[in-house]
Amino acid sequence: MRMPPLAIPVPVGNGKAVEKRSDFPPLPEVVAEFMQEMLAKGGPEETDYPRLDGWFSALDEWIARGFYKSEDLPSVWRAWPELFLTTDTLQGFVISRPHGYAGDFELIDRMYTRWTSPNSALARWDAYAHARPACQSVRNRKRYFIDTMLALHGANGSIRILDVGSGPGRDVRELLARRPDGIEVDCLDQDARALEHARRVIADLVPGRVRFIHANALRFAASETYDVVWSAGLFDYLSDRLFVRLLTRLLRLTRRGGEVIVGNFGEDNPSRPYMEFGHWFLNHRSAEHLTDLALKAGVGPEQVRVEREPEGINLFLRVGK
Ligand SMILES: C[S@@+](CC[C@H](N)C(=O)[O-])C[C@H]1O[C@@H](n2cnc3c(N)ncnc32)[C@H](O)[C@@H]1O
Repeated sequence: MRMPPLAIPVPVGNGKAVEKRSDFPPLPEVVAEFMQEMLAKGGPEETDYPRLDGWFSALDEWIARGFYKSEDLPSVWRAWPELFLTTDTLQGFVISRPHGYAGDFELIDRMYTRWTSPNSALARWDAYAHARPACQSVRNRKRYFIDTMLALHGANGSIRILDVGSGPGRDVRELLARRPDGIEVDCLDQDARALEHARRVIADLVPGRVRFIHANALRFAASETYDVVWSAGLFDYLSDRLFVRLLTRLLRLTRRGGEVIVGNFGEDNPSRPYMEFGHWFLNHRSAEHLTDLALKAGVGPEQVRVEREPEGINLFLRVGK
């Protein structure tokens, strides 16, 4: 297909001004030529990435300007089901939601393990997904978790961690593999399949150092407290109101002198159009916004700081108690 200039809709009719949504051609028609080209060459090559990024940005901008709606995107998925309505690619996995929600434990583990479709006709689409900055930032989040926990362990001699929304457990596994003593982790998740998966991922490491708790974090209470409460990939699904409520709850589960660390996507996410093409919507928040929400949870400004991983996409709100 011709690549329409960004943000310029393709008008229908003999140069007639486009006035309403129905004047725009159906999205599958607009993207057909480009998609056929990509399919014919067996998926995007690295040199095609800027053009593909450009397409996702164009779709995003057209939606922002009201030319199309987010609800129109499924017509594109349905036009190329082998790419988008399948669990055989990362992007298809996001769209198909086999576990009922976007960004589930299995998808995140595919990112961590750089899973690539065994189907050679699809593998290049996964290479594209893995090269997106957001995907790299999720892998950096795992690195950040391990480095941060090792530093806290070094400072304290031992640590007890509550991992809220623990998902695939890959980060916990790699942490424990690095430091066999003095770290205990409670993995809490509301998805029983995530816990089963994490159990398998962690199984061969020293038993007894990880406990699995099947619970909704928003209702979870415990009599014991933790040195660190960690939660990444969960708060960005919450409204501001639930964010503050959960943070307040997690602070109660933290010992005095301990810390709550919350991962949240920041506002500078160049992969957002690609994610939202798959209807993967997150509440992206700036460092200021995260700080403001922490203050609303009742802590003083001196207790709060925000860090980021090297891509600058995933932010980490650190709240001392
Ligand atoms: C995007 S994954 C992140 C997994 C992991 N923290 C990581 O970064 O690798 C989010 C996980 O949070 C879990 N989750 C979402 N809402 C939850 C809630 N209210 N209570 C407990 N777990 C929740 C999901 O089931 C999922 O496994």
